[in-house]
Amino acid sequence: MTAQAPQSSRSLKSPEEIPGSYGLPLIGETIELFRDEELFYWRHFHKYGSIFKTRAMGKNFAFLIGPEANRLVMMEQADHVSTTLGWEFLRPVFGNGLLFMEGEKHRATRRLMYPAFHGRAIASYFDTIQSVAQDFVQDWATRETVNLLTEFRRLTLVIACRLFIGTQTASEVGQTSQWFSQLVKGGLSILRLDIPWTPYGRSQHARQKLTEFMRSVIAERQRQGNLQESRDVLGLLLAAVDEDGNHLSESEVIDHALFMLVAGHETTSNLLSWLVYELGAHPEWQSRLRSEQDAILKDAPLDMTHLKQLSHLTNVLKEGERLYPPVYGMPRGVVKDIEYAGYRIPAGWYVDVSPMLTHRLPELYAEPDRFDPDRFAPPREEDKQHPFALVGFGSGPHGCLGFEFAQMEMRVILLTLLRQYSWTVTPERESIAPMRQPSKLMKNLQARFTLVN
Ligand code: HEM
Repeated sequence: MTAQAPQSSRSLKSPEEIPGSYGLPLIGETIELFRDEELFYWRHFHKYGSIFKTRAMGKNFAFLIGPEANRLVMMEQADHVSTTLGWEFLRPVFGNGLLFMEGEKHRATRRLMYPAFHGRAIASYFDTIQSVAQDFVQDWATRETVNLLTEFRRLTLVIACRLFIGTQTASEVGQTSQWFSQLVKGGLSILRLDIPWTPYGRSQHARQKLTEFMRSVIAERQRQGNLQESRDVLGLLLAAVDEDGNHLSESEVIDHALFMLVAGHETTSNLLSWLVYELGAHPEWQSRLRSEQDAILKDAPLDMTHLKQLSHLTNVLKEGERLYPPVYGMPRGVVKDIEYAGYRIPAGWYVDVSPMLTHRLPELYAEPDRFDPDRFAPPREEDKQHPFALVGFGSGPHGCLGFEFAQMEMRVILLTLLRQYSWTVTPERESIAPMRQPSKLMKNLQARFTLVN
């Protein structure tokens, strides 16, 4: 199966002619989409090719697969589509974060938030991340097995609570993590009644509790006169001012910080689980990364300047992003007609582009199901064939704001593990390859850690 290039012919075909099926009356293919998740994408791609339609949740969708589709939707015609409409079903969990803003308001808010996620700010989070990670993994060799997803969810949540919402003590982390889990679990429930005993009601209650907690942290900082403190994301968002003197209100800061918590938590822990799994299944890569670390650090403690010098590690991270993009599909509501591959997709429809399917196209990546980080090293550099060939963090106006943060966090955690441990994993890679449904498989990934020398 290959991806098609767009046509600019004037004789556009109607959306009704897009290959695919609307499924059953009323419900369309909603059940298949939610039940099978990634498999739905794979099956339809194999059956219909690089553009196909479906109907789910009462909406008409066109799935557009390949790097040109990514370019069109994420960048070239980003103003013809809406992320707010596309991600609407996640709004009870996500609240009013950046993904739910459009146009000038989105651009201005993103500009204000940018400094909290780049350069000096990222460096200022390094120590917290490193010390939390070291404490967290210190007893892993004493455990029979470690469930990767469970542990990385806990670890990234502790880090995010410390840096995004200002949690300090272990009991605060315990409480805020619990509220956070309730928020995510209930927010995704299909029945959305805001009544205390329903999962959805509990999730909205948890959001309220998290909001109150953050208000109290901000009030305490105000009382101590260190509101502008920039040790954490919360501090930097509170301090953010643009060239016209505009700043975010307290409730905007809280909304954005909570959105970061949600947007950054599952994505990072999912990808970390797969990275550690693949390294467990490829001990030769553990050795290469350990040797690279020894050669660059010598006996010095790890610091920010080392991270970008570790090119094998960079390639391993890219290979994880390629094979297991946590956001495997990106939906958008069409607000102005778009054209793709000779079809007209009208306003009122939805489009979905897929990092997961793009990343496994054989015309971009040789033997796409293989774990082969060297594909990113010169002279191969397979991702450089097309600027939208590797898009696990999105691109364009809504591309991931937390990219640098996530890259730094994942590098620090992997290096912390590599320095202390070697590990093996179950299940056997051969028994689950080619991993068409990572979101289902990842719950079972286990590792056994042994101290190195
Ligand atoms: C491995 C980790 C991560 C992955 C794979 C990832 C992926 C993505 C993707 C694909 C998008 C674009 C969604 C779309 O266009 O529909 C996105 C947006 C976003 N991500 Fe991440 N993300 C990760 C970690 C993080 C972290 C740690 C943070 C916060 C520190 C974060 C904050 C955001 C924000 C704020 C947006 C919305 C940007 C906007 O709408 O302007 N992400 N992310």
